[in-house]
Amino acid sequence: MSPADSNSLSLRYRPRRLRRTSALREMVRETHLSANDLIYPMFVTEGENQKVEVASMPGCYRFSLDLLLAEIADVYQLGIQAIALFPVVPESKKDETGTESYNRDGLVQRTVAAIKQEVPDITVITDIALDPFTSHGHDGLLGEDGTILNDPTVEVLAKMAVSQAAAGADMVAPSDMMDGRIGAIRESLDAAGYTNVGILAYSAKYASAYYGPFRDALDSAPKSGDKKTYQMDPANSREALKEVMLDIEEGADMVMVKPALPYLDIIRLVSDATDVPVAAYNVSGEYAMIKAAGQMGWIDEKKVILETLTSIKRAGADLILTYFAKEVALMLK
Ligand code: PBG
Repeated sequence: MSPADSNSLSLRYRPRRLRRTSALREMVRETHLSANDLIYPMFVTEGENQKVEVASMPGCYRFSLDLLLAEIADVYQLGIQAIALFPVVPESKKDETGTESYNRDGLVQRTVAAIKQEVPDITVITDIALDPFTSHGHDGLLGEDGTILNDPTVEVLAKMAVSQAAAGADMVAPSDMMDGRIGAIRESLDAAGYTNVGILAYSAKYASAYYGPFRDALDSAPKSGDKKTYQMDPANSREALKEVMLDIEEGADMVMVKPALPYLDIIRLVSDATDVPVAAYNVSGEYAMIKAAGQMGWIDEKKVILETLTSIKRAGADLILTYFAKEVALMLK
């Protein structure tokens, strides 16, 4: 440092002192991103030798099981310790009540079993909700008048959870937003002997327009209506705490806020109010926006990705579900 710095203001505190060198900045850095924080959402489809890019999610693919296994082995090597699995279900297997969801020989169940054979140490988290399996595309059973039937849906979700646990899932992640499903799933898992299978609850899940690309990936957009009678109103925050507290009382091991970036305030609220790990889902629309701007050359994509995920952690998330997981693990190497 040059003593000739001609600072004329008489300041006791100069916050810039701690930003002067890279070593100083690293010493005082509060938030660190690591591959251990990341959960990689992945799409599995029927067939063999399939790797089809999702048009609205460049860099994300629907993999057939054979290629998915190779990809999972790869990302595990890169330090990613957990994946969240989502199935692309053919129209022919969808029905009004989503019966395929608890088929012991269904795509999810076969995939989980194969992953546990090939890459046994990676944590496999399976999604619980009916939307990939129902012909109408809703997360629950549809009544005659078009309303979503809560309690009958919960019964199906509990069966789905047990079938996934039987296949070898380490954790199940209910993303449906029905009331009382965490308690019912915990009871069913325990009754079937799966006391060690954890529950990651999508607790504060909002009725968000940011899920569009994901619904493209799975062909799962609702055929009629929207999800506002079960997913939360984006305008609300106290309700998020209520949902989180109920899920924890009912037995959730971890809770989630979703989406992440437009809900950083909710992540902070939840992480201040709870003593369980908090996950945040950096969803498909958040991914697509960064990818699109990056492809246009309008932003420095890699830097924006790291800044975005760091901000989600800084807001209080312990874990981040993100389609950037592989890219970030490579950057952190
Ligand atoms: C379905 C589900 C959705 C996502 C995860 N699980 C979509 C929805 O609720 O309509 C969205 C994830 C994303 O957008 O990345 N239960």
